[in-house]
Amino acid sequence: MSYNKQGIAPHGGQLINRIATPEQREEFLSKAEFLPRVQLDERTVSDLEMIAIGGFSPLTGFMNQADYNRVVAEMRLADGTPWSIPITLSVTEEIAASLQEGGYVRLDNPQGEYIGLLLLTEKYTYDKQREAINVYRTDEEKHPGVKVVYNQGSVNLAGDVWLLQRHPHPLFPKYQIDPAESRRMFQEKGWRTIVGFQTRNPIHRAHEYIQKCALETVDGLFLHPLVGATKEDDIPADVRMRCYEILLDNYYPQNRVILAINPAAMRYAGPREAIFHALVRKNYGCTHFIVGRDHAGVGDYYGTYDAQYIFDEFAPGELGIIPMMFEHAFYCLRTKQMATTKTSPSTPEERVHLSGTKVREMLRRGELPPPEFSRPEVAAELARAMHG
Ligand code: ADX
Repeated sequence: MSYNKQGIAPHGGQLINRIATPEQREEFLSKAEFLPRVQLDERTVSDLEMIAIGGFSPLTGFMNQADYNRVVAEMRLADGTPWSIPITLSVTEEIAASLQEGGYVRLDNPQGEYIGLLLLTEKYTYDKQREAINVYRTDEEKHPGVKVVYNQGSVNLAGDVWLLQRHPHPLFPKYQIDPAESRRMFQEKGWRTIVGFQTRNPIHRAHEYIQKCALETVDGLFLHPLVGATKEDDIPADVRMRCYEILLDNYYPQNRVILAINPAAMRYAGPREAIFHALVRKNYGCTHFIVGRDHAGVGDYYGTYDAQYIFDEFAPGELGIIPMMFEHAFYCLRTKQMATTKTSPSTPEERVHLSGTKVREMLRRGELPPPEFSRPEVAAELARAMHG
């Protein structure tokens, strides 16, 4: 792993910053009326934001065909740098035909506000089914990540981007900690080793257990729940964040944990997304990254530990962040503590584990998840959020 004075090196060596300077912003705003427009969806807005703040370093824009093809086929950018998820801006053929390569394109959010700029360098068509099979390991439209690919336009626009302005997050301004800042905070705290944790679900005791197991061996924990677009039946980000606050106040040492939001959208690409999640956390300054059971999975598309095995496809050290793998954790009724089959003598009947889906169903029925699964304060907050 390579370190520089800001801690671990970002992916590709340099932390990217594509937020317009005040002078650039003024210039870009003065062009606003004359530029062709492309309207981004929620996911592409978050991709733009992630590129701009350096979360997707070394990307400086939406992928060109050479990067795209190699990412889809081999999990690498054209120059060989590991990268597992296409970051693309797709539009319809009609829109693509109206845009000139070499020109600027104004990027608007779904509300029609001007938020960024693309210097269009390439337009290319791509094979959606190939992307689905390679990236998501399925071509079924009911997979939520594949569905997005199938529903998007058939031409990708490539080129460098600028975000006009970094606004505070409307819901979680206090937790909007961008990569340059998280790196600064780790330095200030004197943390040399930091484990990153991705989540899109309400925190439960298995999460807490694997976070704390990891924290036993590193200096700090970077809790980094994803707050970008998720599928409809996932629990909303504001509820999840409240659960985190409650848990941190009651069950964690204050000086060892930083809670921050990850503005990215979920892809549900399982193994490939685990690599992607790790690289993003490396950009935030993490040296380690937790990968548990069925990381970033959905339904039965991926094997329980596929998201761990995929790390073997890269040479040791190539990713520049160390995955910390955990087996399926549960509450062991025999030893009365959280455990995995590596640490517990229990029979299957003595293990309490619930899936995110089961918990959502229980909450909908008005039932609270049991204390073996969820801390009571968290369960109460979830119930309050569901039923008022
Ligand atoms: S994810 O889509 O963000 O991966 P989730 O929020 O459920 O979903 O998981 C966050 C992290 O915790 C992932 O690394 C996942 O593998 C891990 N994890 C979730 N539940 C368990 C469990 N019972 N045992 C071990 N790891 C788990």
